[in-house]
Amino acid sequence: PDQYRVFGNPIKQSRSPDIHHIFASKSQQIINYQKQLVDIDGFANAVADLIDQGGKGANVTAPFKEQALALADELTERASLAGAVNTLTFKEGKILGDNTDGEGLVQDLIINKVLLKQRRILLLGAGGAARGVLLPLLAQGPSAIVIANRTVSKAKDLCQHFNDERLSACSFAETTGQEFDLIINATSASLAGDLPPIPTSIINSKVVCYDMAYGKNETQFLQWAREQGAVDVIDGLGMLVGQAAVSFAIWRGVTPQVQPVIKKLRAALK
Ligand code: ATR
Repeated sequence: PDQYRVFGNPIKQSRSPDIHHIFASKSQQIINYQKQLVDIDGFANAVADLIDQGGKGANVTAPFKEQALALADELTERASLAGAVNTLTFKEGKILGDNTDGEGLVQDLIINKVLLKQRRILLLGAGGAARGVLLPLLAQGPSAIVIANRTVSKAKDLCQHFNDERLSACSFAETTGQEFDLIINATSASLAGDLPPIPTSIINSKVVCYDMAYGKNETQFLQWAREQGAVDVIDGLGMLVGQAAVSFAIWRGVTPQVQPVIKKLRAALK
């Protein structure tokens, strides 16, 4: 079978091998996809070893996404603008780098019937997770994406980097009085059980709230948003499966069904 890996440090937590093996079996394919713990200074060697063994591709997770970008011979525009690569494809002696995180998010929003065209989006956070999804979000035709961040200068840098007139930057407090259709939490605050300090007044019965994080329990952000009356709250499990599905399609030429896999992972969280 064709060989694939997910490289990271740590890597124990990764669900990618399970997800890709389900995609493969549902599409009558045989692949071998393993997780591999890579030394902090061993990323380039790990990739070279996989290529030597005839590997076809790899996913890349923290902290190697920037190194994967640097290692790739060719990049997609979305990977280049994201400044990070999560999907490597080895083809005809070349390393191709892509980033499927943003498309995974967009597809999950579409599955959840969240409209993006002509809508106003508030993106919380200006780190790697936020940067990684901006181009695919912009491609859906929103009327505005406001990037709010604790460190406002980082949000401003992102606006400059993407150079799109629909983008603007502000502090969390400065979102007061603005109206949004969708709020996406791309801060790492959830991971620490924290809440980005946005005003309660921007949550109303028309706002959908999305958290890129997920877990056994509802994230702090989603719990808070639900209590404030948001019309819908969605966690990032679908984005995880979505980014894997886009990688799988790049490698295998088949777009897998995500719904059964999301269901299965959701059940396993309980
Ligand atoms: P990631 O790859 O998850 O995006 P990152 O690049 O380190 O990680 O970015 C973390 C993001 O979460 C940043 O936007 C950070 O805000 P700052 O730029 O001001 O540091 C944000 N963040 C982390 N902890 C937070 C908290 N407790 N409250 C609000 N924002 C937080």
